[in-house]
Amino acid sequence: MEIQHLSVRDFRNLALAELDLGQRFTVLFGENGAGKTNLVEAIYLISTLRSFRVSELGPLIREGAESAHVELRGRDLGLDLSSRLGVNLVRSGRSVRRSAIADGKTIRAAADFYGRARSILFTPEDLGVLRGSPAGRRNFLDRVIFARERAHIGDIQAYEKVLRSRNQVLRGDHSRATRDHLLETYEVALGELGSRIWSRREALVDALRPSFVSAFTQIHGGGRVAAVRYAPRLGSVAEGEREAALRDSLQRRRGDDLARGTTTVGPHRDDLEMSLDDHGVGTFASQGQTRALVLAFKIAEVRGARELSGEPPLLLLDDVSSELDPQRNARLFEALTADAGQCVLTTTAPHFVRLGEAADARFVEVAGGLLRDSTKPA
Ligand SMILES: Nc1ncnc2c1ncn2[C@@H]1O[C@H](COP(=O)(O)OP(=O)(O)OP(=O)(O)O)[C@@H](O)[C@H]1O
Ligand SMILES: [Mg+2]
Repeated sequence: MEIQHLSVRDFRNLALAELDLGQRFTVLFGENGAGKTNLVEAIYLISTLRSFRVSELGPLIREGAESAHVELRGRDLGLDLSSRLGVNLVRSGRSVRRSAIADGKTIRAAADFYGRARSILFTPEDLGVLRGSPAGRRNFLDRVIFARERAHIGDIQAYEKVLRSRNQVLRGDHSRATRDHLLETYEVALGELGSRIWSRREALVDALRPSFVSAFTQIHGGGRVAAVRYAPRLGSVAEGEREAALRDSLQRRRGDDLARGTTTVGPHRDDLEMSLDDHGVGTFASQGQTRALVLAFKIAEVRGARELSGEPPLLLLDDVSSELDPQRNARLFEALTADAGQCVLTTTAPHFVRLGEAADARFVEVAGGLLRDSTKPA
């Protein structure tokens, strides 16, 4: 879907905002706190029905307002049809009621709404993901999968719930028989859910690898070869054997896990590993190189999404260019111009954005929650 217009009412600091999107690039620029990321968050909400900043949606409604509304107008190029996708948020006691509307009709099942406006999000936190904790990397991977396969989020949530239950039993004071019975039940569920999560993550990394390797060379220049792999705690296990391997391993480790009061094996302990010329990133790569690795992964994600759905996804780049030097910026935008369809990006420094001669871009200034069309600032 080509997105033409975004309307926002009472969303964060945006009382009322209307934004026409460029066919390729829309650059939102302005000072800190102006509302740039809020606009990206509004688009992301329509794309995924979630926020990338908060898990509860209450903070998205403008202070003092009772409800918020966001809507995208676009065109399905294949079918040559216009379409409108909206999300309403209404305060209801302490929580927020969310409803999704497509072309005037309320869509009850979230699964029927997802995927209509596909997007890929990239934030400055993503750039630091390789230097951060394994949890951050697992999250980074899961967000990519989540955009492709909605069942993944449900499996993750279910897995985490069972994991918490198992950990509670490990720390509790049940009788031995009760304890063993409960652990048995949880381990079967963790094996089933965990193996699905593991396999999706590993399959994603395998699928993106070729694009990742070539995109890294493109951004960083030649001379170093990048590699990426999913690193499961259990080591390499054939796909069909993962469920049993996880369940058996949980059973074998009961003694250890009881002593530690926590579950020490499973996809919640796995990692995403990247390396340069066979050196682990943490100990070897420079700051710029680790960023180039993450960028390469995102570009691979864009290429993969394009192959998967036949059309390039909308790319949301929140403030990433200020974290890169001018040359890498230029290379990043070169790669994006080639692979992305539409792209919305935010920046405090619009002169940093090098879209190249050919790319047509719309510049919009954001100030205090208000938007103003602009030419590219000098
Ligand atoms: N529910 C809300 N109601 C009103 N204002 C809000 C609400 N939530 C956040 N804000 C305001 O929105 C502003 C932040 O907007 P946003 O995160 O989009 O800034 P930004 O332009 O991306 O800035 P930066 O360049 O620092 O990233 C802040 O001024 C914040 O106080
Ligand atoms: Mg911001």
